[in-house]
Amino acid sequence: MMSITPAASPAWQALQTHAKTMHQITLQDLFAHDEQRFDRFSLSLNGLLLDYSKNRITDETLQLLLNLAEATQLPQMREALFTGEAVNLTEGRAALHTALRDPRRDGAVGGDMTILPQIHAVLDQMQDCVQRIREGDWKGFTDEPITDVVNIGIGGSDLGPLMVCEALRPYAHPRLRMHFVSNIDAAHLLQALAGLKPQTTLFIIASKTFTTQETLTNAHSARRWFLEQGGQEEDIAKHFVAISTNPRAVSEFGIDPANRFGFWDWVGGRYSLWSAIGLSIAISVGMDRFRELLAGAHAMDQHFRKAPLARNMPVILGLLGVWYHNFLGATAHAVLPYDQPLHRLPAYLQQLDMESNGKSVDRQGRAVHYSTGPIIFGEPGTNGQHAFYQLIHQGSHLIPCDFLAPCQSHYPLGEHHEMLLANMLAQAEALMQGKTQEQVAHEMQEAGHSPAEIAALAPHRVFAGNRPSNTLLFPKLDPKTLGMLLALYEHKVFVQGVIWNINSFDQWGVELGKQLARQVLKDLRQDAPPSPHDASTQALIQTVRRYRQS
Ligand code: F6P
Repeated sequence: MMSITPAASPAWQALQTHAKTMHQITLQDLFAHDEQRFDRFSLSLNGLLLDYSKNRITDETLQLLLNLAEATQLPQMREALFTGEAVNLTEGRAALHTALRDPRRDGAVGGDMTILPQIHAVLDQMQDCVQRIREGDWKGFTDEPITDVVNIGIGGSDLGPLMVCEALRPYAHPRLRMHFVSNIDAAHLLQALAGLKPQTTLFIIASKTFTTQETLTNAHSARRWFLEQGGQEEDIAKHFVAISTNPRAVSEFGIDPANRFGFWDWVGGRYSLWSAIGLSIAISVGMDRFRELLAGAHAMDQHFRKAPLARNMPVILGLLGVWYHNFLGATAHAVLPYDQPLHRLPAYLQQLDMESNGKSVDRQGRAVHYSTGPIIFGEPGTNGQHAFYQLIHQGSHLIPCDFLAPCQSHYPLGEHHEMLLANMLAQAEALMQGKTQEQVAHEMQEAGHSPAEIAALAPHRVFAGNRPSNTLLFPKLDPKTLGMLLALYEHKVFVQGVIWNINSFDQWGVELGKQLARQVLKDLRQDAPPSPHDASTQALIQTVRRYRQS
């Protein structure tokens, strides 16, 4: 892989020049002069429709962005991803989450014949466990079937499974309640345990490394709770399973090696829901549905790998982000699912995107002088509308939005879903069209306002419009569609990482805080000898110590 400086490429410079002309063109103009705009700027795959026509782009913009993709070797890097090259340079690892959804039981992945059989062996192990739990054959220490499953994990070992279990709740097994504990705050664990019976509870300890402080602390506390509530040491095997790449630590914790579901260092934490980390999903919705989720992701993988760049959904989404962040001054991106079951999608995408592309040195270790990963935020519609949309409509930031919605709900009730969809479509339209001073004045006049009132209030009621968005529509949120959607975002993040020439697969930025927390934990003890800290941290430590004594 050659060393690339994207901002020095002619393609980048051409985009800078082009951005100056695009600053003067509005979305309203673009639609007014082009009746085919929706047809030209939309794509669909297996029922998943991406409308990207409400973006501040022309054919020329797209062509220039595609030139940048070629200049930064996106096609070559994409192939390197799929064939298991060590794209995660700083850790010398491949990032082969795409292999996890490959339906072939054998064959080569990048020349390696061992990968697919290993993946399918774990899937078979999961299938056996899932079946026994769902059919009531996995019995607890009083010979009763499992009713509650508690997944203990954090980051990628929590957000993906939690988000998918919530999204696919309409498919959930009626006897099995799923619980997720991630925070080291005991409130999280104790609230989850309240009302649970140890004899019918199964704990999944999900941790790639099996060294994560939060997960191990929660796991030990859960184990203690289990023993205090009547479970015996010899019952642990029936009530604790682990998902990890670290067999030694799993055994040391006391979990039966037969109850460990393995995966591999080439599965990044935030890309791991497709591996055994997805066990809680499979328990909840069944192995067939889990395989449908994988199939959806695989369909998107195939599309990403094979479709021409100009008709490639993840490529288009990635390039649009680059356009806004590097050439039109945006720093944030909103993800707005109009579907309550997708309520944890924004949190999941925050980790996926911000942990992947929150970098400021390039793949060669040089400081970058252009912006990289955006701030991702969002809430399900319509809640966000009554909270932060004000800023998106009238604030001083440019915030591109993704609207997502199923056209049919799993929860039909009166006109609720039509109203939900109407709100979403109206928001995207309002962001684009805005409302001029003349329109506002006219409306106020019709409503009987005086000229003085109109002069005073009209400026506050004007919407500049010209605010871009993508809309993703699909018939219904089923496992396959969800798989496609999630893989779409994974590849979008990858595309952007390639264009910015950063490593999307490491996360060194989380380490310093972890390291310092170990020292601060010691310093919080009442009898701790003084240790060097800045004056602020020192004073805060002293205050915590004082307050904890009172
Ligand atoms: O702290 C960040 C991180 O390493 C994430 O990337 C990861 O998903 C999470 O911690 C949990 O890690 P593990 O699965 O090893 O417990």
